[in-house]
Parts: sequence; C-alpha cells; structure tokens
Amino acid sequence: MRAFSSLLIVAAIPAVLAVKTHDFKTCSQAGFCRRGRALSARAAENPSWKSPYSIDASSVALSPDHAAFTAAVRSSIYPDVKFGLDVRIHDDGVLRVRMDEVDGLRQRYNEAASWALLEEPKVSQKIQWSVGKNGVRAAYGPKNGVEVDVTFEPLQVTLRRDGKEQVVLNGRGLLHMEHFRTKESVEKSKEGVEVPEEGLDTDENAQVVLGAHPRTAWFEGDSEDGWWEESFNSFTDPKPRGPESLSVDIDFPNHGHVYGIPQHATRLDLPLTTGEGAHYSDPYRLYNADVFEYLADSTMSLYGSIPVMYAHSADSTVGIFNAVGSETWIDVGRPSPKSTSSHWISETGILDIFILPGPTPADIFGQYTRLTGTPALPAHWALGYHQCRWNYISSDDVRSVQKRFDEEDIPVDVFWLDIEYSEDHKYFIWDKRHFPDPVDMIHDVEAIQRKMVVIVDPHLKRTDDYPVYTQARDRGLLVKKGDGQTDYEGWCWSGSSAWVDFFHPGSWDWWKSLFKVQPQGDQWSWVESTVDTGIWNDMNEPSIFNGPEISMPRENIHHGGWEHRDLHNINGMLFSNLTSQAVMARTDPPKRPFVLTRSFYAGSQRFGAMWTGDNLGTWEHMAVGVKMVLANNIAGFSFAGSDVGGFFGNPEPEMLVRWYGVGVFSPFLRAHAHIDTKRREPYLLDEPYKSIVRDMLRLRYSMLPVWYTAFREASVTGLPVVRPHFVVFPGDENGFSLDDQFFVGGSGLLVKPVTRKGATEESVYLPAEDQVYYDYFNHNAYRSTSKGKNITVPAELHQIPLFIRGGSVIPTRERPRRSSPLMKHDPFTLRVALSNEGSARGELYLDDGETFSHRDGKFVWREFVAEKPAKKSKGVRLSSRNLAAQKPAEAVDQVALATYDSSNDFAKDVAQVRVEKVVVLGLAAKPSSVTAGGKELQWTFTPGVAASDKKEGTASVLVIKDPKLSITSDWEILVQA
Ligand code: NOJ
Repeated sequence: MRAFSSLLIVAAIPAVLAVKTHDFKTCSQAGFCRRGRALSARAAENPSWKSPYSIDASSVALSPDHAAFTAAVRSSIYPDVKFGLDVRIHDDGVLRVRMDEVDGLRQRYNEAASWALLEEPKVSQKIQWSVGKNGVRAAYGPKNGVEVDVTFEPLQVTLRRDGKEQVVLNGRGLLHMEHFRTKESVEKSKEGVEVPEEGLDTDENAQVVLGAHPRTAWFEGDSEDGWWEESFNSFTDPKPRGPESLSVDIDFPNHGHVYGIPQHATRLDLPLTTGEGAHYSDPYRLYNADVFEYLADSTMSLYGSIPVMYAHSADSTVGIFNAVGSETWIDVGRPSPKSTSSHWISETGILDIFILPGPTPADIFGQYTRLTGTPALPAHWALGYHQCRWNYISSDDVRSVQKRFDEEDIPVDVFWLDIEYSEDHKYFIWDKRHFPDPVDMIHDVEAIQRKMVVIVDPHLKRTDDYPVYTQARDRGLLVKKGDGQTDYEGWCWSGSSAWVDFFHPGSWDWWKSLFKVQPQGDQWSWVESTVDTGIWNDMNEPSIFNGPEISMPRENIHHGGWEHRDLHNINGMLFSNLTSQAVMARTDPPKRPFVLTRSFYAGSQRFGAMWTGDNLGTWEHMAVGVKMVLANNIAGFSFAGSDVGGFFGNPEPEMLVRWYGVGVFSPFLRAHAHIDTKRREPYLLDEPYKSIVRDMLRLRYSMLPVWYTAFREASVTGLPVVRPHFVVFPGDENGFSLDDQFFVGGSGLLVKPVTRKGATEESVYLPAEDQVYYDYFNHNAYRSTSKGKNITVPAELHQIPLFIRGGSVIPTRERPRRSSPLMKHDPFTLRVALSNEGSARGELYLDDGETFSHRDGKFVWREFVAEKPAKKSKGVRLSSRNLAAQKPAEAVDQVALATYDSSNDFAKDVAQVRVEKVVVLGLAAKPSSVTAGGKELQWTFTPGVAASDKKEGTASVLVIKDPKLSITSDWEILVQA
C-alpha cells in the first residue's frame, strides 16, 4: 500500500482569514494533531515504513458461531503494552472494528458508540470468519463478492468487492494508539538505555533515533511533544492523563471523491488537505465550536461533528463511521486521481470504526442510519416558514409581527423567541416587564394554528433565585472542574454560569420534569408555557465565553469520571436528545417534538433539526450554506437549514430575496437575524421584493406535500431529504462535484437556488440520461443526453431554476393559506411530467402531522402512476393506488404496514379531500376524450412539445379540472388520444 503515502505538499491557502481564527487551534497548535501529522510525514519519508502493530495469531478467538472474533494486538515499539481487537460483521454487511488498550493504567473512553447508535447492531449469523496462516477472513454478499481480510502482520483490514480494494485500514501503517503512561515511567524508561539492534525494524529506522527511547523514536518521534501539558492563548490544559491520542489511516482505493464529515464551510466533494492538489493546509477539524463570523471556505471546526465519510466512484460508494467523541482531525489526500486517502487523528478514545460496504449511495444511507437512526419524522408544521430574530422584544411585538404577516398575506407557521424573553437570561423564566402574559401570547399565536419556539440554552445562571440552577446544583448534576469535586463555573449570556451534566443519568428525569406545563409539586416546572411550544437549544457545543476556544476546559469531569475532552463532540447531542424527550413527555400520548439544535453529533438526527449557526449576510455564506445543508443531509441529518438573510449584517433586498429562494428549498426554513441588525421581516420589503418573497413562500407551502413525503421517506430509509447529484445519479461523473443544485427527495424536482449577485440567468446541469426535464413554471421542455447537458436558463430575481424530471408526478396544494395546518383539508393538484416513454410515477404520504398515530397505521400513502393505455397509444392512463398495501421491501415500518387498513381514522378524516386539478406535461397529441369511471371530465389542452418528440420548447399541457376524485381512494383517469 505504499501508493498511499501522502507527501504533505500543501498548496497555497486562501489568504483571507477572518478576525477570530486566532481563537481556535490549527493542527500545529494541537499537540496530538502535530504528532499525528508528524507520524504520517515520517511514514511518507521512509520507504520501508511498516506498522509496528500486529495480531498475535495464536490469540485469535472466534465466537462460537464464527460470526465475530477477538484477538490480541501488540506493537513492536511497546512490546509490553497489550491491545485487544474485536471484529464483527452485522446483518447488513457493515463491518465493525474495535481496538482498545487492555489492562492499561485506566480505561480509554469507550462510550461514543453507545450515544450515537440507535441500538446494539445484530451480528450476522450467516457470515463466518475463517482463520488462515496470515490472517482472518470472511466473504459475504451476492456471490460472496465482499471479502474482508484482517492480516496479522502488520495489522491491516481490507474490504474488497469483486476483487477490488474498497476500504483499507492501516494500509499506510499510521495506526497508533498512544497507551496510557506516567511521566515517571517514561523518564525511567529512558535511563541508561542502549540502542538495542533487535528493537528496531530496519536500518532506516535506526537512523531516525535522536536521543529519545530508541525503540520508539522512529515511530513516535524524538520528543514528548505536548504529552503532559499544553498551552493555547492564555489557557493551559493540564492533561492529567498524558498522551492518549489515536491515529489511523483509512484509505479508499478506486474512489476519487469523498463526502461527509460535517460540519465545515466547504464544498460537498471534500477538497484535499494533503499531498498534490491540496486546497487547504490544515486537516478538517471536528471539535464542536462557536466560531464567531466563521469563514465561508475552511476546514475549521464549526458547531457540530458527524464523523462519517463516504467515498464514491462511478461504480461504488463505500463509507466509514468513526465513533469517536473527542477532537478529531482528518487529512484527505488523493494519491492517484481515482483513489482517496484519509488520516484520522483523535485526541482520546478507543478505535471503533464501522465500515459501510455500500455499494450504492442508497445502501450507504441505509447502513449508516441503521446504526445511528433515521431522521425523526418532524411535525408537519415544522416544515413551514419560521420567523425568528434576536429578539422579538415583547408579547406585543410578537402579536404585531403576526398581525403584519396576516395583513400582507404572507404564510408563516412559527414565531420564535431568542434569549431576551428571559429574565437575566435565566431560561424558562419570563421577563415579565416585556412578556407580562406569556401564555396568552402563545395562545394568540396558536389560535391561527401557528406555533411558538422558545430558546433554552444550557448555561444556567448561578444565582439562588433561579430554581433550575439550584435544583441542578443541589442534586449534584453540574459538570465538575478537573478536581472532579467542584462545580465548574464559566461565562455565557447569563454571566457566571454552570452547566448540567447530561451524561449524568440523574439529570434525565429531572430535565424532563422542567418542561411539564402542569405544576409538579415542589419541583419547579414550566407552567408558563404550552404543550405545543417548541424548543431551541443553542450554545450547546458548549459555548463558554471565557473558556479555551470559547468552550469548556478539556480537563473538566463528567459523570463516570470521563474528562470533557473524551466526549466534547457528543455533549451537544445529549442536550437536544434530553430536550426532545422532555418536550415529548409533556403529553400522553406524546406529540412529535420540535427541537432545534446548534451543536450535533452522529445520531442527532433522531432528535430534531439543526441550522448552520451564525452565518454572515454575504453571497459566499449564502452559497456555502447550500453545500453545508447537503453535507448534513448525506450524513443522516436531513432537517437542516441556514439563517435566511444571514445572521450578521443587513442584506440588501436583492440578497434577501435570493436568500428566501435558498430557504424555500431547504429542509428547515427559518429567517433569523442578529440583535444589531435592522428588522427585515418580509412584509417590510418594498415592491417588487415583497411580492416575490410572498410568492416564494407560497411556492414552499404549495410543495409541502413533496417535502413531507420526502421527510417520511428519510425517516424510514435514511435517504436524504435533499439529494445531491451523486446520490441520484451515482454513475454520472459530471455530477460528482455538483453541490449548488440538488433534488428534493425522490420527487424528481431538481432545483438550483441562485446565490450570485446580479444574476439574470443560471447554468444548470441536467444529468447524464436521455430524458426530458420540464421547467416547473413555464413548462419548457429541456433535453438531456446520455452524456449530460448544461443548459442556461433565465434566473431574474423572481425566478428560481426548478425542473421536473420527466417521469415524475408532483403532488401540490395551491391554495394560499396563513399557516400550514389550515391546509389540512385543501385539495391537491397533480403535475404529471411524462417521460420520453410517456410514463410517470410519484408518491404522496400524509398523516395527522403531529402525533405518533402513523405508527399505528393512521396514514395515507399513495402512488400515482401514468402509463400508456396501449403500446402505440398517444394517450395516458393515470391511476392512484394505495402504496401501503404494496408493502415495498424498503419500508422499515413494517409493523404499521402489516396492519395497514386503508379506512383508518386519518384516511377517513381526509377522505373528502379532492384532487382539484391534474396537469399533464408532454402528452403526444390532443386527447379525444378524458374520462374517469366512464364519465367525461372537463379539460383543456395547449399543444406543444411532446415528451416523446425528443425536441425542446414549450411542452404540451393538458389540464384536467376538478375530476372529483378523492386523494385517498383508488381511481383511474383515461386520456385517449
Ligand atoms: C447564538 C446563535 O447562533 C444565534 O442564532 C442566537 O441569536 C444568539 N446565540 C443569541 O441567542
């Protein structure tokens, strides 16, 4: 595997650095990252480099069914240190490789997976490991095409498909688990040491010994770089446990693109950080952080971390999930155009890596979300428009904002309150000077079937008149300082503050009880709230103004004695996890909770939505927000969006309008603004901007059926809600780096939001397939080819390039309403976009949108199909079928499907809901009749290009008016031509 040596030749870094970069470490300022990179440099320079780690062949122990094995691992540089390996393959072919130090000075942090995983995955009973002379091996999958080799010496894990290498662990020999040691023992080991010939692997290795312990120096370097203490800015990390970092190379031979590891403000197809063609000089960093005015093009850490990476080529997609909770840096290189290398360097933790064998993007999403969970199905209202700012300053302010929306007929579902609602930033406690009547205010919003979301941050003001703080303190639930005894104190919005340790099981029920709207005896609870109030969890990285890197000291202690450094990246997820449970516990039966989180980890998708934090009101930030939302979507966390308008700054009308264009095609749609910005609610815009934004929001609302269906699919299959090109067309190389246009769910809608100032037209790439794509608005038919095609389309301020792929049926609801629940009984329009072959299909999923009754089968799931009535016919037969009855294999909610009854209560409730219009695009000829149940329907036909013509130009349009068909029943419309 020498081909994968990375040369660390780094291209010029972008020169513009924002003001606050000095608050955050670069790799060279983090001891363990320096050590990891230096290890990789030594390996690259040394042609006979060989990993010192090997498996003791005699120790291999197969489980009784041969489905898993364990083995002892040794490192030749520390022959006395023991490591244990545990390897298993799950039912779905995912390979899990774990390694830990055995009988070390203490236990390494081994709980990251337990927070990330939905449940302990089942080990496959079908797959059998066999032990050979050089390693342990298993083969599985179709024709046993997937082979896993775990070699003894050096320890290396290779996954091949059809003989081709897909994923290789430790192929470059960078695996290193720094075992626990004491300063004294290290000093002692150096005393009077002679260079022992036999301890060194090669002559070259001998030459790099420069005074440190000779046996280790060739591998670990010649200094104890940052082992025992580290300083950064004015902070000193005492590092009481010494060095314990973990390095591992994970390479993807035969894959020339990698995606994932959010959150970074960068391109979806990750630019390189090392070797030839490197775009960045620093590795990607995962260390949840509150980065003020973050850069729009950087590997710097942001608020969340999902350590999942996918590698892609025209014929294969594979991935890895590295269950690590500590700070992690990832170098990405491309040793050859079609192969990718990665090097993961973590501060602490065991090695716990899941290899996702693919081989398609859809398989990967299934594999990853079977591990960490699919995104929760949100309440339907949560897909509407959210209006936020820091801050609506009083109850009357909230009421008047709501009034202005209604006066201007602009749809909105949710009004938000930022931190200023609370008295002295004691969350939950209303500032009665400005919010004298909070429950009445919320009821006024809820009266129009809207909702409120109120912020609850994790920092608790340390004052005796704040029951949330005093209870947490008195129950011993606060995060401790490094001494493990004293409550930690830091600064945030609330001044001197403390933080609840959500890793402490004692905090769980207590936190839930706070959100109860009924009195709870002696226990304080939020009676001045409503059961429908959603919660916004911010600052949960955690953000601490006077802490190192604006966060918590790493030596702080959590439940179980773990240092904060072990679990830093998981911390924010626990807060939103517990909050979502708390919100759910307010009613029995529970309603679907809405919780927005800023910080996140693998698994956070189970608990709510996220946003990309404090973006700037610049075009660059608008554009990178689209890419970040896509990156989150493929990493399992679909319910994502960016602050519409940009958090900082006062966007000019053009920018604000374009930002709404981005927002209405984001899974999570919220406008938000910093406290110092001018008010910019859409009703404040002058014409024509105001009307354009209103139309865009109405477009979003009309498409809620498409979004909801996409969310439902995501919640079942793990497929992202917004899908980049490589996901939908995995074989189309032209699309592998595309991240400024994407598909909405499986609907066939392709959109390219405009993020360029002054744009009047946009270039859009149509995927490599011989297919027609219709402009959503003017029905112009464009043709792609098997090579793909770039088209240029008008993109004036009021225009969003939006296309329907031929072969799709798009269900919409087109009556403008003030909020989405008011649309519940509105009729549907079906847009049938015929393919070249004259066919189409689409789906619609509906349920009550707020409870969990869908899990008991209370939903409607329809399939709309358009097909030719006869081979040579120019007409079309449109039908509506019950998709639930077909029980497609990919549905995991088999229980609900198995017992599905099409006359369930919800279906009955919407049985009167009609299809009010059917629009058929691309019909080959004017119909001679259009009938349903033998009766002629009302229709009009505008001639134009037919789908089968293979021409471009305005498509023919058949509009069938009010066919009097129910959305829930089976029907057929016959168009004869
Ligand atoms: C930081 C958040 O990112 C921002 O959205 C919020 O307005 C402020 N905190 C104040 O709560």
